[in-house]
Amino acid sequence: MKKGLWALGIVGLLGLGVYIFYTELRPVVIFGLREDFSHAIPFQEVPEGIDSLKAESCGQCHQAIYDEWKTSIHANALDDPFFQAYWKRDDKSFICLNCHTPLQNQQPEIITDIPRDRVEKAVKMPNPNYDPALAHEGVTCAACHVRDGVIRGPYEDSDAPHPTMYDPIFRSMDLCYRCHQVPSGPFQFYNGGPCGTYPEFEGQHYFNQGYICQTCHMPEVERPVATGGPMRKGRKHLWRGGHDPEQVKRAITVKLTADPPELPPGQEIEFLMEFTNSGAGHKLPTGDPDRFFTIDFEIVDQNGEVLEDQSHTMGRWILWQPVIWEVWDNRLKPLQSRNYRFKYRMPQLAGMEGPLTLKTVVTYHIQTDAQNKMLRDKWGLTGNDPYNFPVFESEIPLTGPFPDVVQRGYNVNHEKLMAAYQPQCGGEMDGKQVDRLKVEGKNS
Ligand code: HEC
Ligand code: HEC
Ligand code: HEC
Ligand code: HEC
Ligand code: HEC
Repeated sequence: MKKGLWALGIVGLLGLGVYIFYTELRPVVIFGLREDFSHAIPFQEVPEGIDSLKAESCGQCHQAIYDEWKTSIHANALDDPFFQAYWKRDDKSFICLNCHTPLQNQQPEIITDIPRDRVEKAVKMPNPNYDPALAHEGVTCAACHVRDGVIRGPYEDSDAPHPTMYDPIFRSMDLCYRCHQVPSGPFQFYNGGPCGTYPEFEGQHYFNQGYICQTCHMPEVERPVATGGPMRKGRKHLWRGGHDPEQVKRAITVKLTADPPELPPGQEIEFLMEFTNSGAGHKLPTGDPDRFFTIDFEIVDQNGEVLEDQSHTMGRWILWQPVIWEVWDNRLKPLQSRNYRFKYRMPQLAGMEGPLTLKTVVTYHIQTDAQNKMLRDKWGLTGNDPYNFPVFESEIPLTGPFPDVVQRGYNVNHEKLMAAYQPQCGGEMDGKQVDRLKVEGKNS
């Protein structure tokens, strides 16, 4: 009898412990709070001289910039189906909006207090100035440019129909920090935040060479800033990243060779893929912790049958429960390269299987098949947005000498860098930094 009571007591205490852990200690979201993004950007008035804060109205005069922004993921940061599904899973927490629709004008509620940093306990009131159409613009023009009735930008000598003000932040990466460096919270042990592009960039090669996020994500352009205005140096509002196969290809250089290249019958051949982060200023992949690459080798016969294969994954491995713990991170740092080796013994004689082919594919994944299925089944993911795509593909018949296959990445403004760049062998699997190279003329 007594024993039973003891056991009940212990189970009760454990239950209480778990309850307190999840309701008081462990945050409900996968990141911690920081002063800057804990709040929406305060309510903004429409500056004098223009009729609304809407991107479309800026587009009346800034047509080219508007057209670019419209194609960017920033413009889609609320309607993005992956965001919508995850947001639903997170109980449509207001905190997500502070980066995905950052202006107070774009949010249905005003948050007056977040007790003990617990976002689920936030004190809310309805926002009388909520503009749902502006919300659907996600990271809209005004989120970066409008403060206190003035349009801020990178120039000191604008002649505009609206008030303008020079703000040096536009030519600095501090502008991106608020949203692109998400910190970890209590009981969350990341090696950098969940979307922590910053620490992967600071102190690295490109940073030391004076690059900023804009150098690669907002390519330089010379054109009139507004219809009919003078030519100026400005930047394209594109922000391409992991949703754009072309941008991912810019980040990688892949070299495939065979040893010995003559492929003698009966001999073991070592196929080598040298994979280099040649064009991203940060780790590859970066941002959302779901992102990863797979590297696949296959020996295929003439009937398409796979005789032997080998697969590798590059990304971060995170334990999500009971605490968030980043166990492993084998992403490539800027300019780091890694060798992937695949050994195969050539048949003595061409047999029934006929001539063989080596198939090699590098795939970029926005999420796993299982995650995609979970989002569809449980959280209403709709649309058929691709969540993985190949960024390198080769099929080489193993009949004659094996050619050297090279797919070279490049980056906007980086022709010089890439011309000077010779990928160097940088270790096995765990990777090693390749020699840093000297870069001249960063912005040419
Ligand atoms: C009626 C036309 C018009 C509209 C509407 C308009 N602009 Fe402008 N804007 C201009 C002109 C003209 C300039 C100055 C161009 C120059 O000097 O080369 C300018 C300059 C700018 C600059 C540069 C400021 C600086 O000094 O660095 C920014 C940024 C800007 N506009 C953003 C916006 C945004 C955001 C909106 C919408 C909320 C908007 N504009 C709406 C015409 C307009
Ligand atoms: C994520 C932040 C962000 C958003 C959103 C944004 N801009 Fe900009 N904008 C910048 C940065 C950074 C620069 C400075 C580029 C440079 O160095 O010349 C800039 C520059 C400008 C300029 C000056 C010309 C130039 O190319 O430098 C204009 C005009 C402008 N933006 C208008 C807009 C309009 C219109 C929108 C919406 C359609 C918009 N911006 C959305 C960050 C943003
Ligand atoms: C107000 C918050 C905010 C600011 C400021 C901001 N971003 Fe973003 N950015 C986002 C959000 C949110 C997303 C993800 C949207 C989505 O995928 O739904 C994003 C996505 C991106 C992507 C990924 C595109 C892709 O295809 O996956 C790039 C690249 C990017 N931003 C670059 C920048 C750069 C460079 C700056 C600074 C000039 C900047 N951002 C400033 C919020 C912001
Ligand atoms: C040297 C060029 C370069 C610099 C500098 C750079 N990036 Fe990137 N970035 C890339 C390339 C190339 C990709 C595509 C590969 C990828 O998705 O990892 C990329 C991808 C991204 C993505 C998409 C990740 C995803 O999940 O889809 C984000 C977000 C991003 N960068 C943000 C930033 C921020 C913020 C900075 C500044 C701190 C920055 N980048 C600096 C080249 C650069
Ligand atoms: C501090 C700013 C910030 C906050 C807060 C934030 N995000 Fe994001 N989110 C970003 C940025 C920046 C990216 C782009 C990173 C990248 O592309 O890898 C992003 C990307 C995403 C993506 C990937 C979208 C895609 O198309 O693959 C999802 C999903 C997402 N966020 C969901 C959420 C949810 C849900 C919340 C709230 C629990 C949230 N975010 C809170 C800044 C933020």
